[in-house]
Amino acid sequence: MTRVLVLNGPNLSRLGSREPEVYGHETFEDLRARCIADGAALGLDVEVRQTDDEAELVHWLQEAADASCAVVLNPAAFTHYSYALRDACAQRTAPLIEVHLSNPAAREEFRHTSVVSAVATGTIAGFGLESYSLALAAIARLSA
Ligand code: DQA
Repeated sequence: MTRVLVLNGPNLSRLGSREPEVYGHETFEDLRARCIADGAALGLDVEVRQTDDEAELVHWLQEAADASCAVVLNPAAFTHYSYALRDACAQRTAPLIEVHLSNPAAREEFRHTSVVSAVATGTIAGFGLESYSLALAAIARLSA
């Protein structure tokens, strides 16, 4: 069974209460439940994690690279400036899909840059929690 780490960066634990007009009313636990249910339907073994800590996220990406584990990554604000995260993503040994709930290209200028996109397999943004479902479906197809 293909293993997938769904990794989430800073402030994503606050989904539901955090700027609901931008990120919606569903909580991080809703996100976790959706990813696990989608994974079960797609034959993927999905684990969902969240951290506010850049070093922890880098370590999880290194763990995924060592295990040839596919990754769905919402780097949150780290997207826009973390070269450490970008370098960790560049070490990937399996598909890595960058996801965003909102469409950063349609928001403030500083969100228009992703330092991660160039080293990801691809990017899915702007579909709310559905961005994660689409990314998991893509990983299932890529791994078939
Ligand atoms: C986000 C977009 C980022 O710009 C922002 O910093 C986030 C969430 C998204 O999922 O839409 O924290 O990654």
